[in-house]
Amino acid sequence: MANIDFSATSDLENLISQTKFERIFFLCGKKSYFLSGANQTFKKILKKKITKFYFKSSSFPEIVELKKIIISLKKFSPDLIIAVGGGTVIDYAKIANSIDVEKNLEKKIINNSYTLKHKLAKLIAIPTTAGSGAEVTANAVIYINKIKYSVESELIKPDYFFLIPKFVMGAPKKIKSSAGFDAIAQAVESLISKKSNLKSVTFAKKSLKISLKYYLDFLSNPTKENSFAMCLAANLSGKAISISKTTVPHAISYPFTSHYNISHGHAVSLTLEKFMKFNYLNFNKSDCNFNLKNRYEDIFSIFKVIDIYDFENFIINLKKKAKLESDFAKLKIDLSNDFNRIIQGVNLLRLRNNPINLKKSDIKTILLKK
Ligand SMILES: [Fe+2]
Repeated sequence: MANIDFSATSDLENLISQTKFERIFFLCGKKSYFLSGANQTFKKILKKKITKFYFKSSSFPEIVELKKIIISLKKFSPDLIIAVGGGTVIDYAKIANSIDVEKNLEKKIINNSYTLKHKLAKLIAIPTTAGSGAEVTANAVIYINKIKYSVESELIKPDYFFLIPKFVMGAPKKIKSSAGFDAIAQAVESLISKKSNLKSVTFAKKSLKISLKYYLDFLSNPTKENSFAMCLAANLSGKAISISKTTVPHAISYPFTSHYNISHGHAVSLTLEKFMKFNYLNFNKSDCNFNLKNRYEDIFSIFKVIDIYDFENFIINLKKKAKLESDFAKLKIDLSNDFNRIIQGVNLLRLRNNPINLKKSDIKTILLKK
């Protein structure tokens, strides 16, 4: 069930007020729960309910905190979980609701041999950032020893989501620009992913048409209208990548997050135009079941650019306007020195979705190119 209109809070109230939901476990961001105004909204809704709040502390989802959440959840035994926060909070809730703390959990996630039980409780996801679309994706990120892994299954999808514009309006600008860029990058990457299909292409194109129109306004002058538009764009990009998965800019972004603490969308923005250009210039070597050049033409038309160089400039300018730093040195990332550490953290699964086969040496050349 989805609710994406301006009256979402009254529908949320109706859902929560059902008598079958007596015990409610809240998973929230420490700051965002209050900045978003969600605390005020829920104060009214939660009368007569038994609640437990868990405020997450890590800036990206990591295994130690995930285990704490699973234990806390089991102890409380809720019949409803409400995740109010950014991608990290929602990903924690998705995994914690479907997995047990068992022996060698880390190993099982690393080897993809984890078992998902049936859900502990119904899960409502309410994003406080317009970006990842985690409220609709069938996968969730978890870092183990600074390396990114995924838990993937239709089972972990939230049962309900609510897009409430006022919850994303109050986020700090830095978080908004990073999250919004993630929505844009996810839709772009989805369009060229080997696993893309007609459905994902439709979601991705719709998402981009909205995000490109509203992203910068949402940053400089957030209103209910542009906030809602960005929530929708993020949601559609989530639907797109839930089918197609992402490609190289995402794959390479994870070590930038875990080693340098760069927020997810910002980390993706560091290389988006670089790998998009590499893929385009090599389209005759593409290894996918669609015409890659035609997909690029579609992207150019949505971005209203004439060619790949124009696209590259567009993205560079967009990042500047969104104040997303692209200079690795300024971000204290020494690419040539740290390359091995970075490449070790690259998600190989996502690399395989790239339409062009990439070798480590290609990645190094692309990253180091000025
Ligand atoms: Fe993303």
